[in-house]
Amino acid sequence: MNHTFAKDVIDGLTAAEKHLSSKYFYDDNGSRIFQEIMNMPEYYLTDSEFEILSLQAKQITEALAFNRPFNIIELGAGDGFKTFKLLEYLTKSSIQFNYIPIDISQEAMDILVEKLKRKLPGIMIEPKVGDYFEILQQNNDSQWPSLLLFLGSNIGNYLKEDALELLRLFNQNMKTDDKLLIGIDLRKNPRTIQNAYDDPHGITKRFNMNLLIRMNRELGADFQLDDFDFYCHYNPDDGKVKSYIVSLKEQIVTFKKLNKGIRFQQNELIWTEISKKYSLSEIETMAQKTGFQVKENFKDCKHYFVDSLWNKD
Ligand code: AVI
Repeated sequence: MNHTFAKDVIDGLTAAEKHLSSKYFYDDNGSRIFQEIMNMPEYYLTDSEFEILSLQAKQITEALAFNRPFNIIELGAGDGFKTFKLLEYLTKSSIQFNYIPIDISQEAMDILVEKLKRKLPGIMIEPKVGDYFEILQQNNDSQWPSLLLFLGSNIGNYLKEDALELLRLFNQNMKTDDKLLIGIDLRKNPRTIQNAYDDPHGITKRFNMNLLIRMNRELGADFQLDDFDFYCHYNPDDGKVKSYIVSLKEQIVTFKKLNKGIRFQQNELIWTEISKKYSLSEIETMAQKTGFQVKENFKDCKHYFVDSLWNKD
């Protein structure tokens, strides 16, 4: 049994306002459901970032100004679909790089490596499964400069203070010439955002419900899926999508492996995720507060999404 998961679940479900961390979405099954989300037409984030990395790979590479071989360290690489276009451009331009994708899902990493080796034969790739920071620190003694990739608006899944702390940690683990390319979802028409999360196919609902399945499997819980629902809401005032699992009746869920029962009221919420949308000025402030300088913003043609290139200050 994963004790950190068990502790976080108990702490989160016994709090006055129940919550679970969205980082627990990503077991192998959850990572597969997330691939389905990224393939939905409503989930514009993936297409927007894909467009940026497809059409502006040259401009991004020029802005890096590395002029020598470099590492590309991708935090939370997933299946690496977006990154492929950048890697393909570099390979075709005979620019030497070492690709180090990092992800917590072994399965996602295996799929990525197989695909890249097939599509870009000769690519230098060092996949790593595990914790971002341990791996970032290991790389500190590389002779090559590094481009850190934190794509897909992953930063949006952190609360403000946590996001700042994470970016400061990136900063501390970067060498002077290293750069960060961070993908951030921009504020836009609220309906566009609402449709991306409250999707008509029910895939995002399954993504959330997978947390219940995971607790049943790993902690011996007896969540009945039909007794819970999914709800999410975008608030354009603060740019936050907040997602929840809703208990449809008063009930007690038993965690056999933890010897514990948790009571739910009818319509009680478990808050599962925040997906924050930023304005360009919020991005500027976030960079400044964490020891970075925005070098250049690469946006898609609809201005839905930005890949923002940051220097160490
Ligand atoms: C991984 N992350 C950036 C996604 C997001 O948009 O917040 C996760 C997700 N949640 C629901 N749909 C997608």
